[in-house]
Amino acid sequence: MAISILGISGSLRSSSSNTALLRACAAMAPAGVKITIYEGLDKLPYFSPELDTEGSSPADTVLSLRNQIRAADAVIFSTPEYAFGIPGVLKNALDWLVSSGEFTHKPTGVISASPLATGGDKAHASLVQTLRVMTADIQEEYKLIIPVVRTKMDQNGNITNPELERSLLALINHLTAKVSNADLH
Ligand SMILES: Cc1cc2nc3c(=O)[nH]c(=O)nc-3n(C[C@H](O)[C@H](O)[C@H](O)COP(=O)(O)O)c2cc1C
Repeated sequence: MAISILGISGSLRSSSSNTALLRACAAMAPAGVKITIYEGLDKLPYFSPELDTEGSSPADTVLSLRNQIRAADAVIFSTPEYAFGIPGVLKNALDWLVSSGEFTHKPTGVISASPLATGGDKAHASLVQTLRVMTADIQEEYKLIIPVVRTKMDQNGNITNPELERSLLALINHLTAKVSNADLH
């Protein structure tokens, strides 16, 4: 059976390098691995615990996000850093997932990419911390920080840096190996 991975970009920009990285991951995924990119980040309501209690069903967009994560064998995030943190839209999405449990033991890749030399390392660390609180399965091999990303992609979002391509493929392969091994047990 095919392995399904959900890609979630932390950027809403139409020419986002992070979304382009996830598209590149989808294009390079090996046979038997399907990477789908989540589209609804900007459609989620602002999180409030009151909207997520027994007797009040959250919005369809929230249920769809939860269903897509539950149905995926693994998830890969790729996020920019805004003012040393993760973008608010991404944190809002994560807040909807804290109590609902979709990330429990979910193999999860975490990428950050930035035009700066730091690669968005503060946002990367913050995202890893938040996902680990939700008990996502994040190994060292599932993590990637990409500095000076604009020198590694062309204007159409194609990767021009062979090392980056190898790193992304390695991340995908580590995630899928984990999913495949888990299926054997
Ligand atoms: C409001 C704002 C804050 C930013 N803060 C940071 C930052 O703290 N660190 C960083 O590396 N880049 C920062 N950037 C630059 C982003 O990394 C850059 O816009 C990047 O291309 C965004 O990712 P995207 O191409 O996927 O949209 C910031 C950009 C904006 C608009």
